[in-house]
Amino acid sequence: MRKLILAAASAAMFAVVGPAAAQSPIVIKFSHVVAPNTPKGLAAEKFKELAEKYTAGKVKVEVYPNSQLYKDKEELEALQLGAVQMLAPSNSKFGPIGVREFEVFDLPYILSDLPTLRKVTDGPLGTKLLKLLDGKGMTGLAYWDNGFKIMSANKKLVAPADYKGLKFRIQSSKVLDAQFRALGAIPQVMAFSEVYQALQTGVVDGQENTPSNMYTQKMHEVQKFTTLTNHGYLGYVVIVNKKFWDDLPANLRTELDKAMKEASAYGNSLSAKENEDALAEMQKSGKTELVKLTPEQDAAMRKAMESVYGDVANRVGKPLIEEFLKETKATN
Ligand code: LMR
Repeated sequence: MRKLILAAASAAMFAVVGPAAAQSPIVIKFSHVVAPNTPKGLAAEKFKELAEKYTAGKVKVEVYPNSQLYKDKEELEALQLGAVQMLAPSNSKFGPIGVREFEVFDLPYILSDLPTLRKVTDGPLGTKLLKLLDGKGMTGLAYWDNGFKIMSANKKLVAPADYKGLKFRIQSSKVLDAQFRALGAIPQVMAFSEVYQALQTGVVDGQENTPSNMYTQKMHEVQKFTTLTNHGYLGYVVIVNKKFWDDLPANLRTELDKAMKEASAYGNSLSAKENEDALAEMQKSGKTELVKLTPEQDAAMRKAMESVYGDVANRVGKPLIEEFLKETKATN
């Protein structure tokens, strides 16, 4: 795979500096793993529309959804090598490239709602986290939302004990690994594009994701029960290859920044509704039973996952977790 990515990277470099460069537009390949009709898919399309408009066609954005080009881990490598220019991986996927701090967003129940999240992403901590990417050959441009995750399996998941011994697909985050271990479950890292089949064939028993991701991948069709836990947040960092970005003419970068700002506001304004609609569709399908927790059941789940904060303190950084908690409590 690395050879293929390298070949694509050198072709991409030639496309920018080759003989036709003067008249042909600068191309931004934007690769992602979800469906077009998701919060991320819609925001990416909006960025394309605005970027091409504001640069009067001098920049062309090609959006490749659904892991068409690369799966989770490969896409980060492809960005670093310059085979694609832009991505929006989830906060949970930066560990393998050595940036563990974004996993703080994965801590169970750390965020109660999206306005609370904004205090972090729009504040100094959000900026500080983006800066960590500079050393990895990438520039962090924005935070995009998906929403809150729910749990599914072929077994009704109500109490922590129901998770015991079940295999759950997770993204490549050690916080998510610790979360499922705290429940006595067996976490298994897997690319997003492989989850549906793994659930269908029983390679894993269950998974966690947002309603939008579950619905657009048809996961609800192969999971008898879906529990509305809203136990964790799933969001993205929009990243661009740093060299590509720094080498752009300054006026184009300004227009692209503006397009990114507006596309982010657009995507973040519709993410909650996208997830509500997806949940309604899942219910309508009759293929999965939606399970609501009572306040007592919810409290038991929270309690069962409390230990995760201590388990991952060394990895994510205790001061960072404390700063995060402080910012989420700060009043506007
Ligand atoms: C996942 O792997 O479950 C998600 O990060 C996919 C996505 O990009 O929303």
